[in-house]
Amino acid sequence: MTASLDDVKQRIKLRVPIDQLIGETVTLVRRGASITACCPFHAEKSPSFHIYPDNHYYCFGCKETGDAITFVRKTREMSFIESLKFLASKYGIEAPELEESESLKRRRGEQAALSQMMAAAQDFFKTEFKSPRGAEAKAYLQSRGFTDENIDKFGFGLTPTEGFGLVKHLRGLGFREDDMIRASLAVLSTKSGRPYDFFRERIMIPIRDVQGRVIAFGGRTTVNDPAKYKNSGSTPLFDKSGVLFGLDHAREAVKDKRQALIVEGYMDALCLWQEGFHYVVASMGTALTVRQLKLLYQQTKVSDVIILFDGDAPGQKATLDAIDVVLEVPDLRVKAAKLVGGEDPDTFVRKQGAEGLERIIQNSVDLIDVAIGSKLRGISPAAIPTVVTKDFVPWLSRVTDPIKRGYLVNRIFGLTGVPVDAINRQLRSFHLTPSPGMHLMRRLDGAAVRESADGEERPKVLPTRDLAPIEKGFLGNIYFAQPGEIDPGTTGAFISKELMLEPLWDQFAKQVVQCHAEGGVPTEKAEFLAYYSSEEVKILAAITELSPDSFATDNRKKTLERLVVEQKRSNIQQSIALLKRQVQLASSQSPEEVPGFLAEVMALTQSLSALDRSLSDR
Ligand code: UTP
Ligand code: MN
Repeated sequence: MTASLDDVKQRIKLRVPIDQLIGETVTLVRRGASITACCPFHAEKSPSFHIYPDNHYYCFGCKETGDAITFVRKTREMSFIESLKFLASKYGIEAPELEESESLKRRRGEQAALSQMMAAAQDFFKTEFKSPRGAEAKAYLQSRGFTDENIDKFGFGLTPTEGFGLVKHLRGLGFREDDMIRASLAVLSTKSGRPYDFFRERIMIPIRDVQGRVIAFGGRTTVNDPAKYKNSGSTPLFDKSGVLFGLDHAREAVKDKRQALIVEGYMDALCLWQEGFHYVVASMGTALTVRQLKLLYQQTKVSDVIILFDGDAPGQKATLDAIDVVLEVPDLRVKAAKLVGGEDPDTFVRKQGAEGLERIIQNSVDLIDVAIGSKLRGISPAAIPTVVTKDFVPWLSRVTDPIKRGYLVNRIFGLTGVPVDAINRQLRSFHLTPSPGMHLMRRLDGAAVRESADGEERPKVLPTRDLAPIEKGFLGNIYFAQPGEIDPGTTGAFISKELMLEPLWDQFAKQVVQCHAEGGVPTEKAEFLAYYSSEEVKILAAITELSPDSFATDNRKKTLERLVVEQKRSNIQQSIALLKRQVQLASSQSPEEVPGFLAEVMALTQSLSALDRSLSDR
């Protein structure tokens, strides 16, 4: 029973005065709180039927028991729902839940009428196909390799000669014209206002629901109409984005094989089915939808899906576009099989045979892997961090299986050189509120640029934020430092590991350190700024144009050490804050990850107090 029906049932049980109700059928005997009667369910002379204050009855003679609803059901021979409605209306109890199921029933009734009509239309198209004038259509399908047996089994049909042949036929069977229009079998002529057939001059392919009932048609032109296929519009029975063509035929095979194959076209699905690939369904066009994938999983509980789209450009684009859809359905593991040279599965299998196609399927690759490869093809190294941030991190964030995600992070590292750590940190911050997340992402973006583009390949990425006070203090102190005031080794390491500057500042900081390492004085090196564009020089002026007095100190080393600790502190605190949000998120979405995050928080908290202790020790 649905929750809402349960609600209305409770309401009725509580509010119906059961004594009054039963009193209409038998005479009640009231003695104090006790109410008895001669049992309405069996013949008796002395009353053994009792009504109790909690609104139930019991007969000591025949053992009948129940509540007001049972009483109505049994004495009036009504169904459960009918007795609910009867009581609700008799005692003025509001029951919108029942109204709803009423309208649902009406809708079902309408759908049943349309469904009958679709079956009648299918019979009609099939009869036309089998008539002498169907010979040409049949020869066409035979030329495409279909056997007579399968032509019959798949239910191919043909539209009639007259442009209103189906309408006339259905009318003769007593179907209503407005239903024909609602089922997308007829359209109103704007001239005459009369309905005529929606499908004209086409070989008809029935589209069935999972129960095998015809819910729509696809019609292939017999006269080279530019619209090669015409499909039923949306109807109460059919919404293209929620249907997989052939699922009725394929369902059992998908379950047996524990794998499903998705192709684009009607003809691909039918041809492959004939060739023994019984686990095939078609998306009916290129845009695979979330609803189609959910339907597939719901009907088969099979996770292993292979997309086998056409080998032309639209097919390849559709394969890549499917990634966003696929990631919405985490139950599925989707691979892509690749056809080349503009073949579609139908033409390919007829040339290369089932074994050829089997090889193509065997060679299918995880769709996200395909997508990653394709995004990276032909892009410049400088653009890589952006692709990682904009495309890969959002994808990764939707991969729920931690093992698969780990594998992909490593793979992205292998392909781009963006460190695993940096990807993981972006991943962690991805779900979070935009402000801290975005901030961190930009920083890490910068970090990634450093890794991938060392030496000459200096990326022209201008800073997207101002320097933080610690960063400014640090840069000023190293820039204005005199020879011997800083240790280039530890300073350089700190810049790489902790400071996370944006690319321009990072480059600048490393140059300054390099200069010190070579025994030079940064402020005295004219060629220093020649390296930068005028736009960049303007930004660097935030340090270089300041007075050295701004960074005067009696102990440069101590000042730098203090800044280092402050930066480390702030980094750890930020990581802890991010992790805590991550824990919140994981507790609802992936509880198995929570202990790992908590352990990280613990470890970080410990290193924070260790840092504080070292600070107070000085
Ligand atoms: P295809 O053109 O690849 O179809 O379009 P196909 O099944 O291989 O057709 P044949 O081999 O030329 O007979 C793939 C699918 O896209 C939809 C249909 O569902 C088709 O099966 N489509 C295509 C349309 O709805 N309308 C069209 O005009 C074309
Ligand atoms: Mn084709």
